Amino acid sequence: MNNPAELVVPRVQAAIATAFGEEFRHTDPVVRPSQFADIQINAAMALAKKAGLPPRDAAAKIVDALDLDGICAGVEISGPGFINLSFDGTWIEELLNAEAAQAASPATAVTPAATPRRVVVDYSSPNVAKEMHVGHLRTTVVGDSVVKVLEALGDTVIRQNHIGDWGTPFGMLIEHWLEIGEDSPEAALLVEDPSAFYQAARAKFDASAADADGFATRARLRVVALQGGDAETFAVWQRLVAQSRRYFNAIYSMLGISLTDDHIAGESSYDAHLAQLCQELEERGLARISDGALCTFPEGFTGRDGQPLPLIIRKSDGGYGYGTTDLATIRYRVRDLEADRVLYVVGAPQNVHLRMVMATARDAGWLPDTVEAVHVQIGNVLGEDGKILKSRSGAPVKLMALLEEAVDRARAVIDASRPELSDQERAVTARQVGIGAVKYADLSTGHDTEYVFDFDRMLALTGNTGPYVQYAAARIRSILRKAGVLEQFADGGDAGGLGGVTPAPDAAETADSGPATAIAVVEPAERALALHLLEFDATLNKVRDAIEPHRLCGYLFELAQLFTSFYDQCPVLKAEESVRDSRLALCALVLRRLSGGLDLLGIETPENM
Ligand code: ARG
Repeated sequence: MNNPAELVVPRVQAAIATAFGEEFRHTDPVVRPSQFADIQINAAMALAKKAGLPPRDAAAKIVDALDLDGICAGVEISGPGFINLSFDGTWIEELLNAEAAQAASPATAVTPAATPRRVVVDYSSPNVAKEMHVGHLRTTVVGDSVVKVLEALGDTVIRQNHIGDWGTPFGMLIEHWLEIGEDSPEAALLVEDPSAFYQAARAKFDASAADADGFATRARLRVVALQGGDAETFAVWQRLVAQSRRYFNAIYSMLGISLTDDHIAGESSYDAHLAQLCQELEERGLARISDGALCTFPEGFTGRDGQPLPLIIRKSDGGYGYGTTDLATIRYRVRDLEADRVLYVVGAPQNVHLRMVMATARDAGWLPDTVEAVHVQIGNVLGEDGKILKSRSGAPVKLMALLEEAVDRARAVIDASRPELSDQERAVTARQVGIGAVKYADLSTGHDTEYVFDFDRMLALTGNTGPYVQYAAARIRSILRKAGVLEQFADGGDAGGLGGVTPAPDAAETADSGPATAIAVVEPAERALALHLLEFDATLNKVRDAIEPHRLCGYLFELAQLFTSFYDQCPVLKAEESVRDSRLALCALVLRRLSGGLDLLGIETPENM
């Protein structure tokens, strides 16, 4: 851990203990960024109140007892009692070189969290025979970045893709599939355009509603057969779900998402437990019949009318629903998967549902206080009209087409700006930039806020965008290449990056090669870059604690900006040899953090841009 602010904390606490007594040792020093120094300590004000002293006197008492030998060059009390600290340049240089040594090897690049956790992350979770819409794009992209950050920090992560693969529509879907023939062109829609497949089945269902032995009736009988365990129906259903998996996997592969079929734990997998679960809740007095349906009424949830809000767990017709499955799911995640943290990366509109499930699970003892359950709310993706993104015809936007358009647009830019690159190189870069831009736009907005899907903005080379950060990294690669040291400083590429599920076998070798060149921190632009580089681990830990990947985007954006001003102000290739070596090593460290950070966001760093 090379973070100066965090290293100062125990010293300030020791000073507080000396000045105010041992009982104050664990006081939070309230470290904040400062306009006038590197950091400020704001604890004096609260301590002054407790000790009945003027705040500036309290600050002076802390400063008197403070040992900042070797780590701070300046200490000043300002305003009502802020303690402003300026770090010693040599200390920053030492910390930065330690950081560079650590970052050079994938094994030590990130300091693991002090207490690793066992975390179930529910994300993506699309529905069988339905289009994955932009909402699912976001739960997929945000979830995949969250799992990568947690894994990099040493957590054990269990991915759960809670696909919607069960329930009444499946009778209709199976009947339709059998009728058109599993190998027919219409059936291929299941993989290519699932919404169209669903619509076709739905239309047949609606048209035959009045017909006693028509399609709708057969569809209803089919659900009964499916849920009753009829072997033949079950086999058809399995094949149908497998077709949908092909569609999901095509999207995951286009996006570079780490989910595989092994992570699928769909609604159907809990079906066998639902009856017993309802019975248990009813017997324990935690659920009761209301209007014919079995419901729980967890405390604190009321409807518009002020009446307690029910979570329906068995409908009046005896069927089970989304709430029942989610109760079985949360119990399984805690009891069988032994999670101590359960994250639901799911659309914001499902907040009440998920909180009611969690509350019921707490009441039932299935979710003990030692286990944290969080709904990571995902905000809507809007069109330019400010409404939920829809295609011109009003139909849901096809995700694959959207992604292809992003790549095409990036390709047009690359074709114009880098005609000298080979066709193959331009194709690779276009994919990395186009997909990276879409993902970054998703990740850089607070996950619970809405954002407008706007290709021009997300593909812009200026501002907090994927291409801007990717460009900074590609530029550093080109600087190192020109200096002939790219190999020596290889950042491991994407395969060996921080978020790789399986690091490339040679990642450690490439990254460890070459003796470390010491970095000198002299110019103000170098110092600013150094201080920001020392915030990397702290930033990842914030992402982990608050589940906020946008903080990593903000960090990388600032890093790219600080690099740009450093490069404007400090010549690298043209500097005299010792300065040049130091600056190249600094560039290499920035590159490692940019490409490593992007990798944790699931974004690749182009070789050329
Ligand atoms: N399939 C659901 C949807 O598309 C999301 C499932 C989220 N996970 C959960 N455990 N409820 O809206």
